[in-house]
Order: sequence, then C-alpha cells, then structure tokens
Amino acid sequence: MKKGIQVNHKIPRTMTLEGLCYLGAMAKLVPENGIIVEVGPLYGSSTWVLAKNAHPSVKIFSIDTWQDEPWVQSFRLKKYPDAPPLSIDAFKRYTEDCTNIYPIQGWAPDVVSASWDNKIDLFFDDASHGNPGLQNNLNFFKSHLNNKYIICGDDYSSGWRDIISEVTLLSESLNQDPYIMGRVWGISNHPLFSSSIFKILNDSEINTNVSIKFMSGEETLSDGIFWSGKLHKFDIANKIKIFFNNLKRGLNVTGTAIYSDNTVLMDTTLDGKNIIEFSRNEKIIGLKFSLSGIDSKNYQIKYQIGTINMMLGKNYPNSKLVTGPMQVSVDQDSFINALRLFVIKKDEINH
Ligand SMILES: C[S@@+](CC[C@H](N)C(=O)[O-])C[C@H]1O[C@@H](n2cnc3c(N)ncnc32)[C@H](O)[C@@H]1O
Repeated sequence: MKKGIQVNHKIPRTMTLEGLCYLGAMAKLVPENGIIVEVGPLYGSSTWVLAKNAHPSVKIFSIDTWQDEPWVQSFRLKKYPDAPPLSIDAFKRYTEDCTNIYPIQGWAPDVVSASWDNKIDLFFDDASHGNPGLQNNLNFFKSHLNNKYIICGDDYSSGWRDIISEVTLLSESLNQDPYIMGRVWGISNHPLFSSSIFKILNDSEINTNVSIKFMSGEETLSDGIFWSGKLHKFDIANKIKIFFNNLKRGLNVTGTAIYSDNTVLMDTTLDGKNIIEFSRNEKIIGLKFSLSGIDSKNYQIKYQIGTINMMLGKNYPNSKLVTGPMQVSVDQDSFINALRLFVIKKDEINH
C-alpha cells in the first residue's frame, strides 16, 4: 500500500483503502502522548490504522455500541462471510496486537458526556451518518479539541447529505477548509496540515496542483491527491488551471476543455511549459487529458471527477480513481464541480 502507512487487510471494513491511508497519515501528525477519539470502529479496521500509524505513546479511545445490527449482519454475509458476529470481544480480538487502544462500549456521545475531560488531538467520526446523532457527536467532541487539532470522518459522499452539510458548518465555524481524499474528510488548524499529508501520501515524482474557478467567483486550489473544487456543492466550474511540478523532458500532458457554447480549447505542456490552463466564462461540459512524448509509456494519468446533475440534485460518476487517459463529458443538465488529477509512474505504488 502507500509507503509508510500500515493497514491490516484481515479486519472487516466499510472504509476504502485510500480512506484508511489518509486516516493513517493524519494519525502520524498526532504529537507524542496525544489523544485520539474514534466513534464507530466496528470490527476495528480504522482503529488498527490509528493505533499502528500514530506514535506508540498516543492513546486511542474507541467508542461503539458493538451491536450486531441487521445492516452489520448483511454487510458481513456479503463481504466477510467468515467474520464473527459483531461484539466488543470480536473488536478486541481483531485489534489484539495493538497496546494503545481503550474501548468504551455505549452510545456516543452520551456514554462519555458526563465524565470526559481529556483534550483531543484527533477526533474521527464514522458512527451515526445522519442527524441528530452526527451533530451531537461533532458538537460534543469539538468542544474538547486541543489547541492544535484534527477532526475528520468517513463518507463525505452524495448518499450522506447530513455529513456534507455538517462538515460544511463545521469548517465554517472553525474557519478551516476541509481536505477530502476519496470520501474521507479532514479539517485541521495545523499550519502545514495539507502539505504534511501530501508528503506522507504522495508517491508520485510529478505532483500536480489543481486550481478551479467557479461561476460564483470562488476559487479553490489543492494538491492533486486531494479533491479540488466544490465536491457535492452547486457551483459551476468555468476555469481550470493545472500545474505539473517536476514534469520530465520527454513527457507532455495535453488537455482539452469543451465549453457549453461549443468552444473547444486545447493546451499542452510542450516546450518546457508546466501549466495547462482553460479560462473562459462559460460552463465546462467536457475535459480530456492525455500523455505524449517518448517517456509517456512509463507514466499514467489518475483522475476522479465530480459532476452534478441539476435535475437529480446529485452525483459524481467516478466514485473511484480512474487510471488512463481522461475523457469526461456531461449532459446539458449537468456541470463539473470538482477534480482530482495526477500523473504517476507505472511502477509506482498506488491505489
Ligand atoms: C460504518 S461502521 C464503522 C466502520 C469502521 N470505521 C471501519 O473502519 O470499518 C459504523 C459503526 O458505528 C457504530 N455507531 C453508530 N452510531 C453510534 C453511536 N452514536 N455511538 C457509538 N457507536 C455508534 C455502529 O455500531 C458501527 O459499528
């Protein structure tokens, strides 16, 4: 997997591998003797990643009811038929090689609300995916965050509208942007949060920065490993600029943008240029990116694109990173609102 991040593939999980790697990278930023609180560990896949990637002096408090609910039973039968019924004992068995985990059985936050008095360096929420449970947990644990904090969770996705709205409110109240990778979101006031995560997780020598401007006038800029743009939000991308850092000689990227007025713009990194830029005040309805040059056979594009259909009120089509030349177009009812794009060497470890 990602260099430097430990994951236990034997533990049943609902999170993606990419999400677990992002979680492991965040755990690495917790200071020695720090405190991590997790709500919703299930069998302990996320707990194991937190415990093994944080400094060994860090304590992980994991809160769950560990009830073998009907959805857990059907999840298990479908994906992990050999796993035992969910219980605190099953959780303890799966995580028995970790010495820094403190399980708390009960309903969060009520089970700890009268007694909790520790400052929290990292809070991870993968419990109630809807309100009021989600809001109760975020509000309670937010009030116990340390001066420098990370607050994060799984399932920032179109199927979980409350997660999208609560993360938006949280990021506004803390005045920090959320960084989303796959569907895991993270908010932090560590001054170097995104660049530290980038250093841990990026295994490409050619890294990208993606800048997107919107019809609203807003602009977003992210390292290519994170989503850039306004994932799951109603704003229409009309200008895209991508910086390719450390692009090799013999490797060129060519991009094409198709606008709703049928204008087609093409740009390329040829001749030492390391930027591709599309800048028109129209809705972008199609994007293509491909590699050329003598070194191009050794590299590949990885991407994920966010689109919204105005009639249906959702969705994004590429729920996973796609490898290969990128070619995406949307219909007249849809628009592009987010993008992840990077170029990796074919033999580089990736997900
Ligand atoms: C989606 S699963 C978590 C998956 C897990 N993080 C992983 O890595 O595979 C959700 C878990 O949250 C627990 N849960 C949901 N709401 C809760 C709450 N308010 N308090 C405690 N546990 C809760 C459920 O029992 C379940 O084990």
